[in-house]
Order: sequence, then C-alpha cells, then structure tokens
Amino acid sequence: MRNLALIGFMGTGKSSVGRLVAEALHFTFLDTDEVITTRAGKSVGEIFAQEGEAAFREREKLLVEELAKRDKTVIATGGGLPVNPENFASLKKHALIVCLWASPEKIWERVRHQSHRPLLQDPDPQAKIKSLLEARKPVYQKADILMNTEVRSCREVAQQVLHQFHSARPRQ
Ligand code: S3P
Repeated sequence: MRNLALIGFMGTGKSSVGRLVAEALHFTFLDTDEVITTRAGKSVGEIFAQEGEAAFREREKLLVEELAKRDKTVIATGGGLPVNPENFASLKKHALIVCLWASPEKIWERVRHQSHRPLLQDPDPQAKIKSLLEARKPVYQKADILMNTEVRSCREVAQQVLHQFHSARPRQ
C-alpha cells in the first residue's frame, strides 16, 4: 500500500482532508478533478457541457491508470470516479481506500452555495443528492475504511485518516 485514496460523495471534504493528510505524511497531494481540469484547460462544468459526462469519465479512467505508477501520494478522487469498477479495482491495488461519508442533508448544507458541480445543476438538487448517494452507497461501502465526517471538522477527520493509515501500514 504505497498510496492513500479518498473516495466519497461531493462535499464530504476529500480535497481539504487530503491536503492535510498529505502534509502530515510528507506525501504528494493529487486531486483528480484538478489534474483533469488543468490538462483539459477547462473546468469540470465546461467538460460536461462541451464533451459530455462520458468524456469526463474517460478522462478519469485514463488518469486512474496512470496513478498505478505513483508512490507516496494522497489521491482525492471525484465523487463519481470509483463508480467504475475498473477504477476502484485499480486504486485498490496500490492504495488504502478511505471513504468519507455524510448524510444527504449534511452534503446539501455543504454544497448548496457552490455552483461548480454540473451534476447538481438540477431543478431539485436535494433529491438528486439523495438518489445519487443511494445509488453509489454500495460502491462507497466497499472502501477499506468508512469514515463519518458529519460531526467532525476537516482537521479531526484528517487525524482519524492518519491514524487508520498508520494502523494499516506501520510506519516505514
Ligand atoms: C462528481 C463529483 C465532482 C466532479 C464531477 C462529478 C460526481 O467531484 O468529479 O463534478 O460524479 O460525484 P467532487 O466529488 O470533488 O465534488
């Protein structure tokens, strides 16, 4: 287990927690959405609008294949990335997979004032969160560790993730 991958729904804190964990471990931090948008030269919203969701998922898949070569990296994944079983299986080979979890109500509270997520540009975003989360639950639950972020700050969640990582992979 060379790396640590954070999966989970939008708004569960993967990027914020990932940055803190990477800093504490002296690992490189990588955010899949960030790499994809930098390479594409456009935002996730623009990719969805101009190329379609399938093209975005293809970009995710290609990136996941590259990640297998990485070492000492904390990977924050886009919320839908592990839904593709090939992506999940690939991450599993080299990373401890930690899922950050929160209820649909909490997620809504966290994302309601943000507008950069195309999947939430919906007439009823709350219902969309509920149904997407329900559909993805079986995937998220396959993580090595499932962590509730509901009543914890990013800093506290990061501490817990570090603890789990050290338990799974004694300090080297
Ligand atoms: C998505 C989550 C987003 C981003 C894209 C699709 C999803 O990432 O990859 O908008 O399918 O849940 P975050 O989970 O970082 O918001």
